[in-house]
Amino acid sequence: MQKTDILVIGAGVAGLTFAIKMAEKRSDLRITVITKSKLGETNTKYAQGGVAAVWNHDVDNYQKHIEDTLDAGDGLCNRAIVEMVVKEGPEMVKELISWGTKFDKHDGKYDLGREGGHSENRILHYKDLTGWEIQRALLARAQEYSNIHLYEEIYAIDLITQHHLGYSVTRVTPDITVYGAYILDKSKDEIDKILARVTILATGGAGQVYRNTTNPTIATGDGMAMVYRAKGRLENMEFVQFHPTALFNPGRENPDFLVSEAVRGEGGILKTRDGKEFMQKYDDRRSLAPRDIVARAIDNEMKIRGDDYVLLDCRHLDKDAFIAHFPTIYNECLSIGIDPMVKMIPVVPACHYMCGGIKVDEFGRTSILNLFAAGECTCSGLHGANRLASNSLLEGLVYGDRIAKVVLNEIDMVPFKEGIPNWNAEGTTEPKEMVLITQSWKELKEIMSSYVGIVRNNVRLKRALEHPLLTSKRAGSEEGSPRFIA
Ligand code: FAD
Ligand code: SIN
Repeated sequence: MQKTDILVIGAGVAGLTFAIKMAEKRSDLRITVITKSKLGETNTKYAQGGVAAVWNHDVDNYQKHIEDTLDAGDGLCNRAIVEMVVKEGPEMVKELISWGTKFDKHDGKYDLGREGGHSENRILHYKDLTGWEIQRALLARAQEYSNIHLYEEIYAIDLITQHHLGYSVTRVTPDITVYGAYILDKSKDEIDKILARVTILATGGAGQVYRNTTNPTIATGDGMAMVYRAKGRLENMEFVQFHPTALFNPGRENPDFLVSEAVRGEGGILKTRDGKEFMQKYDDRRSLAPRDIVARAIDNEMKIRGDDYVLLDCRHLDKDAFIAHFPTIYNECLSIGIDPMVKMIPVVPACHYMCGGIKVDEFGRTSILNLFAAGECTCSGLHGANRLASNSLLEGLVYGDRIAKVVLNEIDMVPFKEGIPNWNAEGTTEPKEMVLITQSWKELKEIMSSYVGIVRNNVRLKRALEHPLLTSKRAGSEEGSPRFIA
């Protein structure tokens, strides 16, 4: 059995920002950060476009960023949260820079990019590898603190609550409390427990429930599922964001390769396969409208024309500038025989981001005591029905910092819980054939992609709900469930 003052599940932008901010102030606390895959294999690593922050005050201001965020969120954002994140964001970006993150500069000033839904250029970026650079810098910084312990290949299975002590816990139990987590140590193939005074979920998104997604394979919504099973609150799970422009490449293995929205910010124009612009029919901002509008427009064009993709025309852009800003995208296109300076890039929408998630307040508190959450696994109120481009990294930074402030105040009053039982596998089955799981996963992806996609209707949703795979899972989760997995 392991004991740690603080257990952080997830080492992307949200989890590592929290750990660093906490370690800066309390070198006496043991901070354990676990990741289910290799350290650094996160959604954060794949971020391309950049981080949105009001930077050039000559032309930009908080009000503009706030209005852009509210507009993209389609009336469903929480204004107070939007104001808070937008105003606190730039300071956190400055900290990120002070921790060693590099962003591109032009004539000595940060080169600010533009993406869909933004009324100004305010995206700090490192080529088209912003997430890779942030992940690198955060990991390096975290490793400088001797009280941050980073572990890879440790898979959180379930949150430990009173339920595991034999108490009945339901969705209306008012004081559900977390005492740590059961974890699968992949090197030993054993389920162990980590006891913690405070637990932080920073487990990222769930794009892998769809067939086509820009998310890496770690994005399976584990944090959301753990909170759901522990009878905590989730919100807005129906708001799944589809990125308009994943590279159309049927030969590529999961995940899909993203063609950053920043390419449209630099002047790339969406066209149908016969070379005609179409976004003017849908929004005055054309190819730079917010993501949900562009993704629906592409979906509609593909459906009425019977096409598998649309095209992104970059042929008129400056070649040297394009290669300097988008080297990874340029090379990926070349690898499938498309020189973006000569041919238009075939693109298609793909699942990209979960706007909903674990319900948190302005300090990252969940509905479960001593459990906090930050980043893509949460629903903070920032994104509403549709996230504004490049606001996700910003949210992870701001919430990582805010949670650290609260935990600093509270942790000394939180004791460890004694008497936690070992994992009880009674009632569970051990699949002898992995293929049964991979097949279920494939089926789930098909159901979600066919019936719960970009545009939904009652007939399709009903079909999904009535699918045998989902009806059997629902029955399993309510009644016939094993004791410690319910
Ligand atoms: P992640 O970075 O996804 O980290 C999740 C962590 O949780 C990982 O360490 C993982 O191992 C761990 N984990 C998960 N489940 C478990 C478990 N059961 N046990 C143990 N560990 C677990 N956003 C922007 O703002 N700007 C962009 O330019 C941008 N571009 C993007 C491009 C792509 C291709 C993608 C996929 C996303 C992009 N996003 C962008 C979104 C953004 O990258 C993510 O929303 C954000 O990085 C999420 O950070 P996070 O810390 O919440 O989670
Ligand atoms: C992109 O680069 O298009 C992704 C930006 C984001 O998800 O915010």
